[in-house]
Amino acid sequence: MKAIEIRNKYLDFFKSKGHKIISGAKLIPENDPTVLFTTAGMHPLVPYLIGSPHPEGKRIVDFQKCLRTDDIDEVGDNRHLTFFEMLGNWSLGDYFKEDSIKYSFEFLTKVLNIPVDKISVTCFLGDNDAPKDDVSAKIWEECGIDKTRIYFFGKKDNWWGPAGQTGPCGPDTEIFLDTGVIKCSNDCNPSCDCGKYIEIWNNVFMEYNKMEDGSFKQLSQKNVDTGMGLERMAFLMQGKNHIFETELFMPIISKVSDMSENPEEDSLRIIADHLRASAFLICDSVIPSNVGQGYILRRLIRRTIRHMRKIGFNPDKITDVCVTLIDNLNNMYGELETNRNNILEEIKTEKNRFMNTLLSGEKEFIKVINKLKENNINIIDGIATFRLYDTFGFPPEVTNELAKENGLCIDMDGFKVCFEQHQAKSREGSEGIFKGGLADHSEETTKYHTAAHLILESLQKILGNDVIQKGSNITAERIRFDFSHPEKVTRELLDQVEDMVNAQIDKKLQVVCSEMLLDEARKYGAKGIFNSKYGESVKVYTIEGFSKEICGGPHVDNTSKLNHIKILKEEAVSSGIRRIKAVFIK
Ligand code: SER
Repeated sequence: MKAIEIRNKYLDFFKSKGHKIISGAKLIPENDPTVLFTTAGMHPLVPYLIGSPHPEGKRIVDFQKCLRTDDIDEVGDNRHLTFFEMLGNWSLGDYFKEDSIKYSFEFLTKVLNIPVDKISVTCFLGDNDAPKDDVSAKIWEECGIDKTRIYFFGKKDNWWGPAGQTGPCGPDTEIFLDTGVIKCSNDCNPSCDCGKYIEIWNNVFMEYNKMEDGSFKQLSQKNVDTGMGLERMAFLMQGKNHIFETELFMPIISKVSDMSENPEEDSLRIIADHLRASAFLICDSVIPSNVGQGYILRRLIRRTIRHMRKIGFNPDKITDVCVTLIDNLNNMYGELETNRNNILEEIKTEKNRFMNTLLSGEKEFIKVINKLKENNINIIDGIATFRLYDTFGFPPEVTNELAKENGLCIDMDGFKVCFEQHQAKSREGSEGIFKGGLADHSEETTKYHTAAHLILESLQKILGNDVIQKGSNITAERIRFDFSHPEKVTRELLDQVEDMVNAQIDKKLQVVCSEMLLDEARKYGAKGIFNSKYGESVKVYTIEGFSKEICGGPHVDNTSKLNHIKILKEEAVSSGIRRIKAVFIK
């Protein structure tokens, strides 16, 4: 059974049980700046899980694109992916344990025809926060699951959420399929990592709200949140050995393998996974950069290229693989087709950027390790790792992999310290997810930073408040500024934006920086990404009477320091995202 059939059967089944099908959200959470990506189907539904009524009612079903970057190092085994699809059904204060478990059981055994004896389940063991979940265990028994295949575990295994620091959470019951391989030991059970039992579905009984003080309060309504990993389900239903043998990945793997001198399984899997994740990130308007989501995208693409080189695949052919990927998946994800050119373009551009520095980076790497070897040291320190990152664009995991191949390791903590110090030094720390980067802060780029604030405010005043900044890229020569807007911006409107920016420059407005708590910044009316991850206190730059933005700076102290700008180009980046390129006229 193909993945798309599993998805359709799932949606149909829950529709027949009174659920409304809703469309999944973007990979980039729209209303939650505390996380970079949508990591679970429940994520976009948090407001409804804590009590506000969902416009579609109390029974919801959907499929959701998810990205989990904590699994990045696990890619290559038989069940971990960075990007994956989660099928989910929800009861928002409607049915609870009994119906939820019975629906899951019926779907698995009657719709997918999975034999009952292949199914094992786990339930919550109980602790000070919540009691043992005998109720769920009893329902499983009633369904026909033998007692010997019902296990109890603590919070680590059988509790889900909250997705962030606070929010809805609760005990869960997890469903595992037995792959049929022999137990790794007498004690082997579903919590074991050996691969005999694969978790396919998680039914979370969300009846608690975790509060800021760490306590658990009863929610006003009892919810069910379930999630089934589509790719895992597909490989198990197809009797394959792993995810990468399914139709979702096979064409990409074969393509890369055919074009490689020395195809190694792990590298093929990493390439297939990372390119797929990258394509979907680009669909959601992410552009490779040095911060936030853009940095994850950069790491995924660069790690792909590293592995392509490792197996003797010419990275210049990376777009051929992207074409295969899009052709293979566009029946399941229409957005790949819509963004075809954009995906190819961004990946190619990033490949070129990386390739330009790669050779010198590799030379530098060899220098570093030769020196270490001479001195019998087997760890690349944080400073060297940071230099490879900062000057040569080597994400630390790329350095780490190269190091491992040479019998060395890297000092990841040391790298993080350098990274943070550098961020603090360039006063980028509170700069929000999209802006700046670890680029230079010459006088010229500083001026462009200030121009960016003038441009955003002017765009919003002229095109409307739904203009949201989607990224910016500044060099000493120009600014590239991305923003959301549904259509092409006419030359006439661009002229108006230009005039408004230039008028503020003529007005010689003061630019003032003040530090305040994030909450105060919000109240003050500052624009920005309210990402508390960057610390409680943020910098707000006010351009006298014109704009207020959370930003790490640096900026000029008066707009009179800027030359007039000229918008040279306006173009689409992806659907709904426009890019302008502007320069100072000398
Ligand atoms: N939120 C739960 C999970 O991610 C169930 O959907 O597993």
